[in-house]
Amino acid sequence: MAIREIRTKGDEILYKNCKPVKNFDERLNILLDDMYDTMTDHDGVGLAAPQVGILKRVVVIDVGDGKIELINPEIVEESGEQTGSEGCLSVPGVWGEVTRPNVVTIKAQDRNGKWFKATGEGLLARAFCHEIEHLDGKLFVDKVTKFLD
Ligand code: NI
Repeated sequence: MAIREIRTKGDEILYKNCKPVKNFDERLNILLDDMYDTMTDHDGVGLAAPQVGILKRVVVIDVGDGKIELINPEIVEESGEQTGSEGCLSVPGVWGEVTRPNVVTIKAQDRNGKWFKATGEGLLARAFCHEIEHLDGKLFVDKVTKFLD
């Protein structure tokens, strides 16, 4: 386990499309463990692999209810709407209001390759959207309707 360096806004790796994970091996386990340690070390609630320089479709989330690992995640259903403040470990010190669906269902694989579905509401729904967008090279700042001090 190790804390990895977090890439920040302007680093070209954050704007690239990530590749699907095909090998569910020890290397993936190490990446997931390192990502979780890196996220918690920075008091984050979510982290996507490109934020540590890896162009793979891997996400870790913990909004306070325990660790969630998402490999090759996709949003399969969304409903409602919420507008609230959002930040990103790759854009330190910047907060802004972003409108997101209030309930989001994803499907993803776990670290063993097994597919599962999960539904999140509120902050978890927001985290699903924010982190999956990282895998497509998108940063939340482009969705901000109002920057906050
Ligand atoms: Ni982020």
